[in-house]
Amino acid sequence: MKELFAMEGKVVVVTGGSGYLGSALADGFVNYGAQVAVADITERKAEPGEDPAVSEKKHFIACDLSKTASIQAMLEKTAAIFGKIDVLVNCAAYGAASPIEKMSDEEWNKGLDGTVGTAFRCTREVIPYFAANGGGVIVNFASMYGMVSPDPRIYGKSGQNNPANYGAGKAAVIQLTRYCAAHLADRNIRVNCVTPGPFPNSAKLPPEEFLNELRNKTMLGRIGGPQEMVGAVIYLASDASSFTTGSNIVVDGGWTAW
Ligand SMILES: NC(=O)c1ccc[n+]([C@@H]2O[C@H](COP(=O)([O-])OP(=O)(O)OC[C@H]3O[C@@H](n4cnc5c(N)ncnc54)[C@H](O)[C@@H]3O)[C@@H](O)[C@H]2O)c1
Repeated sequence: MKELFAMEGKVVVVTGGSGYLGSALADGFVNYGAQVAVADITERKAEPGEDPAVSEKKHFIACDLSKTASIQAMLEKTAAIFGKIDVLVNCAAYGAASPIEKMSDEEWNKGLDGTVGTAFRCTREVIPYFAANGGGVIVNFASMYGMVSPDPRIYGKSGQNNPANYGAGKAAVIQLTRYCAAHLADRNIRVNCVTPGPFPNSAKLPPEEFLNELRNKTMLGRIGGPQEMVGAVIYLASDASSFTTGSNIVVDGGWTAW
């Protein structure tokens, strides 16, 4: 059964691989045998107690995903180091937050760019590498807020309010996934996405009162931990999902199902 999910010999690019979920994914891929390029604007230093064998198999490649030339350079460097690219995980996100009545055109565009724009550019730029390799796999990161609206009643003055351009961009990620799955299948490229629910960063947790609001919105009555995103992504990246494309795996404790 382990072989079904094996990533031995695979080269995986994780954009946003220094982030909260991305760093758990990068380690997860290494544990399943892959070599990983961590493509991020900031480098995450290994924390005390982390397995050095895992850190050794991750290679940080600095890049700014808002710029095409930087994405191209990152992919070139990945292929030069590892010889090929098998999997692209579009996990990074950036944006600009304001209430809708105050959001400028620039902020709106930045939020769309930091969700669907960056996923589109990385997809476009990785295609020649997959073509050289006889195929490949893309896993995009959407969000529960690409499926349902944030409920303003739970946000109040928490400071955690989620902007309109984030959810609009994440909904577009789900559709971009379907489009790319349909149009790249003939090149043996599978494209799927995952939809995380509430995974607030444990290093900067919001106030307990707001956390309880998040917990209450899930069927399981709790928030997610970063390890809980790893299984769905490994499934989609590995041969275990060889007949799956254009799909969206929702990992949200049930948030969007009631
Ligand atoms: N954490 C959650 O609750 C949650 C919920 C739903 C969806 N998501 C999605 O999951 C993904 C990961 O979320 P996270 O919580 O790990 O976020 P995070 O902020 O911890 O990580 C994002 C990473 O992207 C990197 N990044 C930002 N701008 C960049 C740029 N221009 N170039 C290169 N790298 C850049 C950051 O440095 C960071 O390491 C995102 O797509 C996010 O929208 C997260």
